Amino acid sequence: MAGSRPSLEKCSAERFRPAFAGATVFTAVAGAVLAGGTADCALAEAALRPYMIVGDAIPASLTGTHGDPERGRAVVVNRQVGLCLLCHTGPFPEERFQGTLAPDLKGAGARATEGQLRLRIVDASRIKPDTIMPPYYRVDGLERVAPSFQGKPILTAEQIEDVVAYLVTLRE
Ligand code: HEC
Repeated sequence: MAGSRPSLEKCSAERFRPAFAGATVFTAVAGAVLAGGTADCALAEAALRPYMIVGDAIPASLTGTHGDPERGRAVVVNRQVGLCLLCHTGPFPEERFQGTLAPDLKGAGARATEGQLRLRIVDASRIKPDTIMPPYYRVDGLERVAPSFQGKPILTAEQIEDVVAYLVTLRE
């Protein structure tokens, strides 16, 4: 949807900039196809929580609390939810088929900080614009979104935090 982004960013900028003066705050919106307006802003708050990118990281938790590493591991190996193993291998001896398109997740927590891992999962294209890794916490600027996912991120903020909490444990 070319043309929808500017109005959305205006919407989010107006609402969130005062709280985070000097930093860039990104938020995205359910109903990205609608014209910008207060209705969109209300939807945005329902769909995604605002987050702040600092350099190549999102230092603060999306939920304000720590996730649960065990639940995070379950998301990562789940072929319906996280689908990470479509592309990644990792320390999952029980999983027979693992991807070969992306680095092994083993050691991911040693190679990146928690905040870097969070941005990578939220929207990897912020780190590498041509990445094939899907943005797990973005709803704008997407194409070919299945009806059941429209206006919703792939993972919830809680699931993102669970996945991050799991990845930081992968230190070797
Ligand atoms: C469609 C393929 C694909 C899927 C699905 C995918 N990734 Fe990735 N991921 C990549 C690729 C490719 C890279 C390497 C960097 C790049 O090209 O963006 C990467 C990089 C990463 C990195 C950094 C690795 C490192 O240590 O350098 C982490 C962490 C990561 N992905 C975690 C995940 C998690 C967790 C999921 C599931 C929630 C996931 N990825 C789903 C393709 C994918």
